[in-house]
Amino acid sequence: MEVAEEWPEPIVRVQTLADAEAVPERYIKPPSERPNLNPGTALAPSETGSLPVIDLAGLSGGAAERRATMLAVSDACRDWGFFQVVNHGVSPELMEGMREVWTAFFRLPMAEKQAYANSPKTFEGYGSRLGVKKGAILDWGDYFFLQLSPHSIRNYDKWPVLPASLSRAMTESYGEELEKLCGVIKKVLSATLGLDEEFLHRAFGEAGACLRVNYYPKCPQPDLTLGLSPHSDPGGMTVLLTDHHVKGLQVRKGDDWITVEPVPGALIVNIGDQIQVLTNATYKSVEHRVVVNAATERLSMAFFFNPNDDLPIQPAAELVTPEAPPLYKRLTFKEYKLFMRMLGPRGKSHVDFVKPT
Ligand code: OGA
Ligand code: NI
Repeated sequence: MEVAEEWPEPIVRVQTLADAEAVPERYIKPPSERPNLNPGTALAPSETGSLPVIDLAGLSGGAAERRATMLAVSDACRDWGFFQVVNHGVSPELMEGMREVWTAFFRLPMAEKQAYANSPKTFEGYGSRLGVKKGAILDWGDYFFLQLSPHSIRNYDKWPVLPASLSRAMTESYGEELEKLCGVIKKVLSATLGLDEEFLHRAFGEAGACLRVNYYPKCPQPDLTLGLSPHSDPGGMTVLLTDHHVKGLQVRKGDDWITVEPVPGALIVNIGDQIQVLTNATYKSVEHRVVVNAATERLSMAFFFNPNDDLPIQPAAELVTPEAPPLYKRLTFKEYKLFMRMLGPRGKSHVDFVKPT
């Protein structure tokens, strides 16, 4: 696969459509893919459960408490592929500061933002679509994408210098704190697989990290479109900072889409496709999507923590047995991420591309 240099058609910023009377055709999903925003028959949260909320302070407690916390993470990964964490060690001031300054970025005049317009070559900068398929039905969201790690690929020319409050240092500290948190979760996941604590650390190598700030403008007809179509995250794991006043994220559970109720101060963690491959599907990445609403915009920040671009990723030898043969073939993350970049969000279909033939 070759990476396209340019978008297949002119980019329209979704933000410029927020006050339109109707959703333009390009954003209208086929009826079977539309969100059911008034589900008369849907199951109540009491019947489906809700995302586990895990207190990571338990990891610094006594042996029994530590063990229970690790088990809670492991169970959440198996049952949901998603969980919320509190006492995660990331400074609340930094989380709030990041939300404020990045919201201010999206409120800048269009000309200021356009200076950072991205291309499918690296996706870095101000973007309004994933995937390069001409004529694709698009999602109701704009975003800003930045590479944070390894440091050698950081390109500060792509980092916004406006608004003045958006300091590079703040985004960098946020990235560092989240990398630390991912380091802790990597250890917990390795140990709960029955492997040594450093297993995922070795498999990831010098990790990659990037930040996508998602901006979902309000939408005149939210029942016709999606802020982000169903997908699993292609990388290792994702830590999401959302707006606890505005819901929007939905996680697939069987045939249902469960709306996440963000706990104030919490971060949402989910397993990506690379951990599914490395664990031979003991831990699975789970589909999720974003619904939008007519009343208000929503901002979220997805921190993607990934294996090194160039290391081969394949099921761990320790987890492959005659009864559990390898479910995936070997691919580097650099090769794998092209599926998402070329095809855009498409449920869990990308993982099918690495099934052995
Ligand atoms: C993502 C994602 C969810 C959200 O960026 O991959 O799933 O709530 N975002 O914005
Ligand atoms: Ni996602």
